[in-house]
Amino acid sequence: MSKTYTITAALPYTNGPIHIGHLSGVYIPADIYARFLRITGNDVIYICGSDEHGVPITIKAKNENKTPQEIVDRYHKNIKESFEEFGISFDNYSRTSEKIHHKTASDFFLKLYNNGSFKEITSEQYYDKEENQFLPDRFLIGTCPKCGFEESYGDQCEKCGTSHNSSDLINPKSSITGNVPSLKSTKHWFLKLDSFQEFLKKWILEENKNFWKPNVYGQCKSWLDDGLKPRAVTRDLDWGVPVPINEAIGKVLYVWFDAPIGYISSTIEWAKKNNKSWEKYWKDEKTELVHFIGKDNIVFHCIIFPSMLKAHGDYILPKNVPANEFLNLEGSKISTSKNWAVWLPDYLKDFPEKQDVLRYVLTINAPENKDNDFTWKDFQNRNNGELVAILGNFINRVVVLTKKYYDSVIPNPNELNDVDNEVIVSVYESVKKIENLVSQFKFRDACAEFINIARFGNKYLADEEPWKIIKVDPERVKTILFVGLHISSILSIVSEPFLPFTSKKIKFILNSHDHSSKWTWENLVNDKFLITEGVTINEPELLFTRIEDSEIEYQIDKLKNNN
Ligand code: MF3
Ligand code: ZN
Repeated sequence: MSKTYTITAALPYTNGPIHIGHLSGVYIPADIYARFLRITGNDVIYICGSDEHGVPITIKAKNENKTPQEIVDRYHKNIKESFEEFGISFDNYSRTSEKIHHKTASDFFLKLYNNGSFKEITSEQYYDKEENQFLPDRFLIGTCPKCGFEESYGDQCEKCGTSHNSSDLINPKSSITGNVPSLKSTKHWFLKLDSFQEFLKKWILEENKNFWKPNVYGQCKSWLDDGLKPRAVTRDLDWGVPVPINEAIGKVLYVWFDAPIGYISSTIEWAKKNNKSWEKYWKDEKTELVHFIGKDNIVFHCIIFPSMLKAHGDYILPKNVPANEFLNLEGSKISTSKNWAVWLPDYLKDFPEKQDVLRYVLTINAPENKDNDFTWKDFQNRNNGELVAILGNFINRVVVLTKKYYDSVIPNPNELNDVDNEVIVSVYESVKKIENLVSQFKFRDACAEFINIARFGNKYLADEEPWKIIKVDPERVKTILFVGLHISSILSIVSEPFLPFTSKKIKFILNSHDHSSKWTWENLVNDKFLITEGVTINEPELLFTRIEDSEIEYQIDKLKNNN
């Protein structure tokens, strides 16, 4: 049944390149989901863009003596290009410094301003006299009131993930000068989150309880149990979307107010470019909105943004928010400032044409339910032991034997026997399992099940031994290789969400374009074959190559020498 889906991936901050933590937590799972839904016949938009406001960008600009615009221009280009090269299939990748975004965010604010969703509060806020500026969010560092971490930011603690108000920090200091801040009075606009408490309780704790992930549900519950309070959505800063009311000249929208509206502006931009209507994707109750994010974004996507959408009144709410936990690297937390990361642009340079290897390793080892660890050794083992030895090996054997015995022409099978039917049934069972797992956001298990199909294929070849049978019963070999090619064709379709580059290669080798209208997920049903006897397939081509110890040692050294 065809449905409409709006899939969003957290807008990355443009203060550095993309690393494997971002990929495994957000962009790869969202991409698998979007690709899967597209090829199973749904109307899908996969939306993202750069998050170009917020204090981290201002701080980076200050440190490098550049303007914030120069910083975001640099990283927007870097991020956009590396996503493209890596094969992330966004329908639109926008940026929050675009005009269309400023307009969408301003209009959104005004609507809430006019319908009484805000409370105006004048209070004393931390101020750095030396710099002549207020110290919202990351401009303030101090001890986390929840976990005691001494380097917590004003808005969020990176250690325990709690988000809080600047005034909650213990022993606050200016992150620019290190000074103990003074207090200065200022007026801000607060979203009355408390007035959504009852609604959210019912919506999350009752209606969504059984199909949101436990980690997501748990964080929401703890917020709701603590009781929601009004939250400021404006800031005394000069980089951001200006607050569109006269009284607020010199103030901007809080980055966490404008950024999620970026999903909407990016959709509008996409619709304009493609001459489509955007409203269907945000206002139709039948559309499923799904936000892919990391665990530090849960409160913003499950509590605050839904309250904003509800306060606005025209929009649908997310159907699900499948947030992931974090990925560590070689046993330690990934850290931009300590340069402890595998950066996507570096990976693409060091391993050209190996996008799918990284996709595979990050999927099969994704931090879906708990934090996980990426190691270069595991990367090598999975490539050599799974992609090369199982998937690549299976397809290669089938294609090489077809060339050897039949000059690459797909043979005419004889009647299938029990062994043939059994392997085909197992393959279709895997396809069904994959469909179910992907719909439940269980991409690790889905990906493992996909590799199982190649395992079944390898076992089938090992048991049937066409290379021996060819001497005694050549007619039987036609059937074995036909079944092998059939399984390969199924792999070419099922691999698309997980390994899109490999999928293309398998389809090319099997010459799918000759009868391409048949090559769809819908046609993966028993008794149908995508392949046709008599079609000449292409030359065997290795799908994966071994990764040597020296390549891994080079990466590990690079990582350690960076520090
Ligand atoms: N830039 C934020 C981060 O990297 C994510 C923003 S998601 C959005 O954590 F919803 F605000 F867009
Ligand atoms: Zn903390």
